[in-house]
Amino acid sequence: MKKRIIKLYKELIFKFKRKINLDLNKLDILSLNELFNHFETDKGSAVRDPYSKSLNKSHQKLIGHGYAKFYEFHLSNLRNKEIKLLEIGTWKGASIAAFYYYFSKAIIFCLDRNYKFQFKSNRINFFYCDTRNAKDLKNFEKLLINKKSETFDIIIDDASHIYSDILINFKNFFLKVKPGGFYIIEDFNHYKYYSHLDDSLPISLKIDEIFENLKTKQNFESNFFDKKFQNYCFNNILEISLHKGIQKDSFIAFIKKK
Ligand SMILES: C[S@@+](CC[C@H](N)C(=O)[O-])C[C@H]1O[C@@H](n2cnc3c(N)ncnc32)[C@H](O)[C@@H]1O
Repeated sequence: MKKRIIKLYKELIFKFKRKINLDLNKLDILSLNELFNHFETDKGSAVRDPYSKSLNKSHQKLIGHGYAKFYEFHLSNLRNKEIKLLEIGTWKGASIAAFYYYFSKAIIFCLDRNYKFQFKSNRINFFYCDTRNAKDLKNFEKLLINKKSETFDIIIDDASHIYSDILINFKNFFLKVKPGGFYIIEDFNHYKYYSHLDDSLPISLKIDEIFENLKTKQNFESNFFDKKFQNYCFNNILEISLHKGIQKDSFIAFIKKK
């Protein structure tokens, strides 16, 4: 009961929070990397640590994965098309704002388990959802049905980067990618660098090994992907492209659906 009241209270505060209306702000930035850097998402190449608590910019580490060139390589043909995009994990919304300007006609959906999101637009739909919570996922499904948006051209997982979350999100959301669309997993190797993200078991396959099995259509033992889902992947994945970004831990996967 207490949890429900806190959630309702947070929802209410979020509803009335002042947000930046992107529909009123024209921007003449053309490249996706400039947009990423401008809005300060670590998808860009030159971004001060957006998660740093220090107020002094010069004390903040220069980070940035440099993922824009991979996004442009795979997705630039969708730039001016009427696509639907979903990002899992928005934080304050920096990447969503960048995608809003890059994909000029996209209808954007995004979700997070916190209410830090700062933007609004007629083309952006933000939802509260913790992807580990079955009830939240069900509510999210209902909202998508109401909005007649059950499938997407692009789905991006930039949420917790925890080993199990990456696999659970893929199992839940890959089905929602349209034929010819992409499921993108950012920072899929982070769990190898940061032990708090690694909840794999000693016998678990590494994520890149799972990608390899999906590519070569070989069934494997997994607590997350049953045989039925593995076969769905074998029949529906056209291509898996793995790219290395700027930092030692920058890895991104583009999984293209047939
Ligand atoms: C790396 S940040 C997202 C950054 C954003 N995509 C950008 O580029 O500006 C990760 C976000 O994922 C959210 N997150 C982590 N686990 C989640 C979960 N289980 N469900 C929903 N959101 C989650 C966190 O609250 C956080 O805001």
